[in-house]
Amino acid sequence: MNRKEFVKLGLALPLLNLYSKHVRGMEQMLPTVKDDFVWGVSTAAYQIEGGYNADGKGLSIWDEFVKIKGKIKNGDTGNVACNFYDLYENDIELLKLLKIPAFRLSLSWPRIFPNGIGTSNKKGVDFYHKVIDKCLKNDITPWITLYHWDLPNDLELKGGWTNRDIVSWFGDYVDFCTTEYGDKVKNWMVLNEPLSFTGAGYFLGLHAPGKKGIKNFLAAAHHAALCNATGGVIAKKNVTDGNIGTTLSCSWIEARSKTSKDVKAAKRYDAIINRFFTEPLIGLGYPIDTIPSLKKIHDYYKPGDETKLQFDFDFLGIQNYTREIVKHSIKMPIVWGKTIPPEKRSVDFTANDWEVYPEGIYKLLQKFDAYKKFKKFYITENGASFKDVISDGKINDTKRTEYLKSYIKSVLKAKEDGINVKGYFVWSFLDNFEWAEGYDQRFGLVYVDYLTQKRTIKDSGLWFSKYIAGF
Ligand code: BGC
Repeated sequence: MNRKEFVKLGLALPLLNLYSKHVRGMEQMLPTVKDDFVWGVSTAAYQIEGGYNADGKGLSIWDEFVKIKGKIKNGDTGNVACNFYDLYENDIELLKLLKIPAFRLSLSWPRIFPNGIGTSNKKGVDFYHKVIDKCLKNDITPWITLYHWDLPNDLELKGGWTNRDIVSWFGDYVDFCTTEYGDKVKNWMVLNEPLSFTGAGYFLGLHAPGKKGIKNFLAAAHHAALCNATGGVIAKKNVTDGNIGTTLSCSWIEARSKTSKDVKAAKRYDAIINRFFTEPLIGLGYPIDTIPSLKKIHDYYKPGDETKLQFDFDFLGIQNYTREIVKHSIKMPIVWGKTIPPEKRSVDFTANDWEVYPEGIYKLLQKFDAYKKFKKFYITENGASFKDVISDGKINDTKRTEYLKSYIKSVLKAKEDGINVKGYFVWSFLDNFEWAEGYDQRFGLVYVDYLTQKRTIKDSGLWFSKYIAGF
């Protein structure tokens, strides 16, 4: 679908309804923020771009992983996704119409370096120049993640994250990108959720590249942690006046009972989910005190690594969706614990079975603030998947709006209580390719019809737009 067709398909129509009666009054009693708080939406390259082999792009581990039968729900792939590769101008205009000031996107490493290292791909490099320029022209501040899980497949063939050489491959990539775009882009995030891509990709085999086992995990995790800090150092050096951070997936963890077994299991969960990639950055190393079996990670150490794991980021990006209740279990190695699904706990939950627990985002901000080492925080992802129904060209997604309101309220309470949280990004701008869930889960403020590529702003998107425009 080309640009003209896209517009013809009625993009303008929902925008006319932007302040429709239906939406008026949805802006419940949320506090307003009048300072430099950043409001934005988040996306990731593989989840929205499509154009998987366009204009000299190399294949990523996800381009390969989706080919394996049974790995992705309904056999979906990100080959086309939201076709942001062709429709980026329209999508950025849509952001402008929604008055969204900040747009978080990621760079596809294999679009820029088809083989991961070596010669860059001019058309890929130019694509991101065009995206950035279009944002800037529309007064939208781009926030760029350097790595959101789409490793060049050629590097995976050399061991990917389990190969220590990745520290220099990644360093060169970061050096190139921050030099190339650093004059225009000031806000950078080095990694998206290192625990997710090493845990799901190298331990559980649920995400690309589908590797399993503790050895793969520990090697990949240590190298990712080294890349996190190394990438930070390089970005800081290259970007004048840069705001350099990284992002971590965090969940509020509680034990099912007060028994020592459950309490210990919850502590181990917390150590893996909330501390594993946080504490090495500030010189505390990995949480081996809580999970002694993690000691094996030292097999991958080289002299000087304690120092190389540290970097004083300008900010930490907190990504939170839910809370986990944990009980002891002998089935899951390392953490020796199991989460209890929300269905069994009489609590609200989303379409992908995540408990709605807005208090958790407040408690997590408090938890990270208590380290007294992080200068500031942004919520770089928060949002919800619910089953969306189109009726009369509208999507009345009240549950998503209520979810967002409740989490934003919690974030703003943390701010009021003195925590230096400086921004909030909704996951996600558009419905998109939700990894192993394919297109089954929809997190967007904007609905995407994947057959026609028509965009329809959901009521949650209209609400968010109206809410932030009020500042
Ligand atoms: C990831 C996104 C993902 C979202 C919802 C985050 O962990 O960064 O890529 O789509 O959660 O599952």
